Amino acid sequence: FSDFLTDTLHRQHDYLRISVTERCNLRCVYCMPEEGVPLSPNEHLLTTPEIFMLSSVFVHQGVTKIRLTGGEPTVRRDIVPLMQQLGTLRPHGLKEICLTTNGISLHRKLDSMVEAGLTGVNLSLDTLDPFQFQIMTRRKGFAAVQKSIDRILEMNRLGAGIRLKINCVVMRGVNDREILPFVEMTREKDVEVRFIEYMPFDGNKWSKKKMYSYGEMLDLIREHYPGLDKVRDHKNDTSKTWQVPGHVGRLGFITSMTHNFCGTCNRLRITSDGNLKVCLFGNAEVSLRDILRRANGGSPIDEQAYEAMKQIEMDRRQGLVPHEQALGIAPAEAELLHVIG
Ligand code: GTP
Ligand code: 5AD
Ligand code: SF4
Repeated sequence: FSDFLTDTLHRQHDYLRISVTERCNLRCVYCMPEEGVPLSPNEHLLTTPEIFMLSSVFVHQGVTKIRLTGGEPTVRRDIVPLMQQLGTLRPHGLKEICLTTNGISLHRKLDSMVEAGLTGVNLSLDTLDPFQFQIMTRRKGFAAVQKSIDRILEMNRLGAGIRLKINCVVMRGVNDREILPFVEMTREKDVEVRFIEYMPFDGNKWSKKKMYSYGEMLDLIREHYPGLDKVRDHKNDTSKTWQVPGHVGRLGFITSMTHNFCGTCNRLRITSDGNLKVCLFGNAEVSLRDILRRANGGSPIDEQAYEAMKQIEMDRRQGLVPHEQALGIAPAEAELLHVIG
């Protein structure tokens, strides 16, 4: 494993999350205001060859998992060709190609994505009720999301082996009554339903009162499913996994607010405008895009890539890259709570 991806806390960063667009076709209340987020000018965004080149650099250094996120990654026009290009990195050590999506248009692109090498889908769905869906996402589209879920399960029955997780952000007084129906979903379906503690982000009107904690969720579920079992987690998982005995699927809890997982975080992030970021909550960023574009157009691609790596390494030494948040005892989330709550 290359030193280049190991930080001063000895965490090996083998998981790269790439945001491929800021745009989204939904307006989830916990994520975006009705009018959407301000968009960067097109020329600031990474092109597909740039995304591929950076992916290739990281895979050659030891990254084994890439997740495409957004915004909503499927609104990027060339998302399928991009995934096809990532597929070519599999012989070089890329084991997992994953997508985080709201599922609205996934069903149309899924087959070609799986053919390209897609191995996992994390699909955001906060409610099983079409009306509530419209309230939480400020858009219609519940049926389309169901169609995507059904298609994944159908492909899996045919042996596709796509790992499916459903992300459900739980907000008190908004969708907390849906926790148990979501647990029921795991009875027959081979999915992992992950309940996410509501987190504060810029302007999402977060309040402590609306946050439904891991402890409270467990208490509620245990009341109805007393035999709930803990399942062993993988080393770098952000979620804590449980299962109702006899259910096919599993439950996960993403406890960013009450039990941080910074110590085992193995993620690197590239924003859609090409900044490398190590922590979701950190402000430290270094522009890989500028490095790529600066690195004189005439030189071979791997020399440019090497330039980019040198720059990242240098910035890490300067203290930009290690997750500052994880250095102290107080996680960034707790600090945020302190400021906002
Ligand atoms: P897998 O572990 O591959 O399933 O992916 P994931 O859980 O990292 O990704 P996903 O895009 O599904 O994100 C799920 C939730 O985890 C979202 O609410 C993210 O905001 C949150 N999340 C992802 N990375 C971090 C992180 O580093 N810190 C915190 N606190 N939350 C994170
Ligand atoms: N709190 C918790 N999770 C959030 N997500 C988006 N905004 C928030 C928030 N404020 C989730 C989405 C998606 C994942 C990538 O992040 O539901 O599943
Ligand atoms: Fe945000 Fe995802 Fe909802 Fe789009 S689908 S508004 S990116 S949480």
